[in-house]
Amino acid sequence: MIVVCTPTGQIGSRLLANLLARDTPVRVIARDPARLAPPAQGRVEVVTGSLTDLDVVTKALDGADSVFWLVPPDPTSTDPVERALDFARPLCEAITRQDVRRLVYVGGLGHKEVTDTDSMGRAMTELIDKTGVNYRTLRMPAFMENLLWQVQPIKYQGTFFYPISGDRKLPTCSTRDVAAVAADVLLDSSWTGQDYIPVLGPEDLSYNDEAAIMSEVLGRPVRYQQVPADAYKASLIQNGQTEAAAQWLVNLLTAIDRGLYNAEPRTPQATTPTTFRQWCEEELKPAVLA
Ligand SMILES: NC(=O)c1ccc[n+]([C@@H]2O[C@H](COP(=O)([O-])OP(=O)(O)OC[C@H]3O[C@@H](n4cnc5c(N)ncnc54)[C@H](OP(=O)(O)O)[C@@H]3O)[C@@H](O)[C@H]2O)c1
Repeated sequence: MIVVCTPTGQIGSRLLANLLARDTPVRVIARDPARLAPPAQGRVEVVTGSLTDLDVVTKALDGADSVFWLVPPDPTSTDPVERALDFARPLCEAITRQDVRRLVYVGGLGHKEVTDTDSMGRAMTELIDKTGVNYRTLRMPAFMENLLWQVQPIKYQGTFFYPISGDRKLPTCSTRDVAAVAADVLLDSSWTGQDYIPVLGPEDLSYNDEAAIMSEVLGRPVRYQQVPADAYKASLIQNGQTEAAAQWLVNLLTAIDRGLYNAEPRTPQATTPTTFRQWCEEELKPAVLA
């Protein structure tokens, strides 16, 4: 039995579809089971409740061979590190109680490094390490899907923004690739130990490269504009993020601009198939035209 902890999310929903296509028995934890994709309704065991509730997680992990887990993002959090631990503590307690053999969870790229941006990742990993569970952390760069947050400026101003140099080449991946890697690792019962797997997408692109590809796919000019970190943070807060969540993200983006994402070597194993152009054609373009 494989347990998928975020079955309605970007990665989790694609992972669930992937596992069901391979006729794998799956149990999910969902706050609102009605939000499961229609093809999954009735085909998976559901434990209803929150990932922060130890009883819910313990019940879900009963008899589980493998678990897929991540900390759901929350831009309204006032303490991102403590919030991540609120999710990690019940997971770790339940893994120990239920003697789970394998965990596959999502982390950020470069976060194995000790950086100021990653007190969250370090605290979480320390807790998970202590359970002794076999695990693979999927370490990935910024998702292509993040650009969907900027559909309005792309559509109406032909511009998108980050506080990152437009020429810095960076890996980027689609959540479908993350889900595909997660499915393969969850279905492979041969591995043991505690390690990570980088998921880097097909190639490194700068934001200027991405603007050129977007322009071609959308058939209209799109340009990238680097903005100062303070201005970017202010725009996040204006759009509803807390000061703490905005600062955490700006710290991460600043670290990316200084090379956080460029430390992981690109190997054939870390390279995944969905190109930025394909993603633009299949997901960005319909969103911009909607
Ligand atoms: N964005 C990036 O560029 C990037 C890069 C590297 C790593 N990451 C990591 O990737 C993860 C985000 O993955 P994603 O995009 O798939 O997330 P997502 O689409 O935001 O999905 C979040 C999921 O968590 C569920 N959820 C939220 N709160 C819950 C709770 N209290 N109890 C149970 N379920 C809860 C949501 O379910 P409902 O709302 O339906 O209840 C949903 O299924 C984060 O850990 C992030 O740090 C992101």
